[in-house]
Amino acid sequence: MATKSVYLCSQCAGQFPKWAGQCQDCGAWNTLTESTAPVTAKTAISKRFTEFIEPKAAQKLSSIQPSKTFRIASGQGELDRVLGGGLVPGSVVLIGGDPGIGKSTLLLQALSSMSESVSVLYISGEESVEQIALRAERLGISGDNIEIVADNMLERTLNSCQQIHPQVLVIDSIQTFYSDSFTSSPGSVTQVRETAAAFVRFAKQTGCVVMLIGHVTKEGALAGPRILEHMVDAVLYFEGDRSSSFRLIRGIKNRFGAVNEIGVFAMTDQGLKEVSNPSAMFISRQCKFSAGSVVLAAMEGTRPLLVEVQALVDKSPLANPRRLTVGLEPSRLAMILAVLHRHSGCSLFDQDVFVNVIGGVRIVEPAADLAIAMAILSSFQNKVLPPGLAVFGEIGLTGEIRPVQRGQERIKEAAKLGFEQILIPRANTVKTAKKNKKIYPLMHIDQITSLIRELS
Ligand code: TYD
Ligand code: MG
Repeated sequence: MATKSVYLCSQCAGQFPKWAGQCQDCGAWNTLTESTAPVTAKTAISKRFTEFIEPKAAQKLSSIQPSKTFRIASGQGELDRVLGGGLVPGSVVLIGGDPGIGKSTLLLQALSSMSESVSVLYISGEESVEQIALRAERLGISGDNIEIVADNMLERTLNSCQQIHPQVLVIDSIQTFYSDSFTSSPGSVTQVRETAAAFVRFAKQTGCVVMLIGHVTKEGALAGPRILEHMVDAVLYFEGDRSSSFRLIRGIKNRFGAVNEIGVFAMTDQGLKEVSNPSAMFISRQCKFSAGSVVLAAMEGTRPLLVEVQALVDKSPLANPRRLTVGLEPSRLAMILAVLHRHSGCSLFDQDVFVNVIGGVRIVEPAADLAIAMAILSSFQNKVLPPGLAVFGEIGLTGEIRPVQRGQERIKEAAKLGFEQILIPRANTVKTAKKNKKIYPLMHIDQITSLIRELS
């Protein structure tokens, strides 16, 4: 077969005959790489053939009875929560994450629980069977019903699958697999796209659940073509600070459930353990609270989560003081500082401002605004906020405290964990019980300066 040099975009897998700095399809810069994939000639659709193909009958949408989807429980409650209640037969789940975060461990543990009720197959292109056995031993997994194969050739792997007929198949990892039909190396755009497509076809044809493990780039996105995410039914990210034992699994896309759910695990010397009450974990209340710290009642998907937001405001020696966020949006910080200056007369133009969410959690919702503002003011004025205080609320550009979604659940979670005082947007009080006297409804940001003085 004739091979020709083509240039493939690593973002959108677009093909070009010449190299260019920018992909003409998706507009990404510096993503074209040379590939020697054989170019199959496009066959013209001949009218002669199409005449003989019977069209499929169209049906009225209302006449179709949706079948109740049966799900296979993974045995890991936190994983099932992110998946929307378990694995749907015939679906393909892609799990990405940094090297060493625990992807192989998580799936081996899940396979171990599932192997009691369904047939499972684990195919590793990264480790030998002995290495997997060693990990299983460490995890206390007997592995009586887990079939394992160390292979990374697509065609041979598919033959193994045809023979074993698994109901759940784990591919560790998609970037190590290659198909014999392409000359490019494993991990290249063509190989990842084609091998993933073959596994998706296998899942749809046989009803087997396929879980693909994916590598991430140093920017944190899944390595390989972007279309990989479009091809699969669910995309999950396994993340966490390597220095801490906590691991979060986050749903980015899910055709069978809600997105933005998180599952929380702790990595122990016997593998991953589920953390079913994460709020208690993220707020460290062993030590005394100091100025610049406040507890935020956040929502992660449908689950309320209490996290500690810390700020440090200090006189800057620099002409351009530093503004740094960890786990929060830098643009929100800039906006909150501007609002604090304009509407509560607090000028921080000559101060360095650092804001951090404890525990490696990432909060992107605007409900964190009030907590950020409180933490900054608390640090700036050196006023310690009471440890039993939790806050949430969005801050508008005119200084108003805006309501946020699911206020009721946030208040409940805070109350459950023993927080007696809760600062909330005024508009969120409507549904809350009046008898709770410790709830402070706020309307405008200028109220918080006096409130901090009163509370501390
Ligand atoms: P692994 O699942 O191999 O990560 P990935 O597949 O994402 O690359 O996890 C490897 C890390 O997890 C390794 O640094 C050791 C640690 N680990 C534990 O702390 N406890 C355990 O029981 C296991 C199996 C691994
Ligand atoms: Mg691994």
